Amino acid sequence: MHLSPILETELLWSDETAAQASAEKLAAALLPSPDAVIELHGPLGAGKTTFTRLLLRALGVEGRIKSPSYAVMESYELPGGATASHFDFYRFGDPREWEDAGFRDVFAAPGLKLCEWPEKAAGQLPPADLQLFIELMADDGRRVRMVGDARLVEALK
Ligand SMILES: Nc1ncnc2c1ncn2[C@@H]1O[C@H](COP(=O)(O)OP(=O)(O)O)[C@@H](O)[C@H]1O
Ligand SMILES: [Mg+2]
Repeated sequence: MHLSPILETELLWSDETAAQASAEKLAAALLPSPDAVIELHGPLGAGKTTFTRLLLRALGVEGRIKSPSYAVMESYELPGGATASHFDFYRFGDPREWEDAGFRDVFAAPGLKLCEWPEKAAGQLPPADLQLFIELMADDGRRVRMVGDARLVEALK
């Protein structure tokens, strides 16, 4: 990717159904062979894991989708053969772990990389194709700013 210009849009998710609609649009733009780095920003409880689950489901992942808070990474094989790796860098501290855990290899290979708490691995992560900034509103809705690859952002509008 990184071929089209950067775009930005803002959406409101009133509930998880609205988030699911976005996940389905994004999945359609990523298929048939998802290959992108997507960062999910936002405080604890913003809905980063929820959106990632909805996206993985929309991409055809069946079965349990665990939060990678302890393992840092959970990987899935997508129906078309591509790999999706879901990261939660909240507990990531030691840069050596990047090498030791094989994350360098994962990011060097094609596939979808979904990154919660990307700021905790800022020195290691390659530039994102798409960044989601999720803000939790007082009414339990979410305001989401989406910045990145124009084709992906257009698909989310
Ligand atoms: N778009 C949404 N609308 C309403 N509630 C949501 C939404 N996304 C997540 N939630 C709820 O918020 C809680 C925290 O979500 P989670 O995805 O675990 O947050 P995070 O990974 O950002 O810490 C969950 O109980 C989930 O059901
Ligand atoms: Mg989470």
